[in-house]
Amino acid sequence: MERRFADVVIELALGDITRVQADAIVTAANSGLRGGGGVDGAVHRAAGPQLLKACRAIGGCDTGSAVITQAYELEERGVAYVIHAVGPVWRGGSSGEAELLKGAYSKSLELADTHECTSVAFPSISTGVYHFPLEQAAPIAVHEAATFAGQRPKHLKRIIFSLFDEKTLGVFSSALEAER
Ligand code: APR
Repeated sequence: MERRFADVVIELALGDITRVQADAIVTAANSGLRGGGGVDGAVHRAAGPQLLKACRAIGGCDTGSAVITQAYELEERGVAYVIHAVGPVWRGGSSGEAELLKGAYSKSLELADTHECTSVAFPSISTGVYHFPLEQAAPIAVHEAATFAGQRPKHLKRIIFSLFDEKTLGVFSSALEAER
């Protein structure tokens, strides 16, 4: 499924983000940028060990923000950058989780555009081991993407959500349909 907002297409796809061809792919990282399981494990495996070295050199990233590195071995697949976005751990919803999740998406979008990416692929940040409820996370993700599109970014033309299972794809689809 896809929808256009201003000059930008927002697209939903089922599958492994390391297989998506985009100028930048986003991983759901931790604030220590130490690598991990889930999508972060897959991205680190696909990019090779230099990615962790680059993360160590940066040292860390605030929750609700993101940092950008080269894509190393993913460059062979046409990916120029990896964006390491740090979403919040769900603590019940009254610890600023929604704002922090927004920040992880908006900072990633800003980094992609300032690095002249025309396309960027996102996973569903925080809805795995960080347990952010999917029904609340999907509208935030889609709204941040649509809002960024409405600000008419200079370079970005495609925002892809690469979603790993049917349930996540379904909830994102409803959110994208509902987005105004
Ligand atoms: N491609 C796309 N999506 C994936 C992939 C993949 N290869 N692997 C997992 N996912 C999906 C999960 O199914 C989930 O929907 O990504 C979503 C986010 O799940 P997590 O990877 O658990 O991310 P998050 O909840 O943000 O937790 C971040 O997990 O691995 C650690 O270093 C990471 O500590 C950080 C934490």
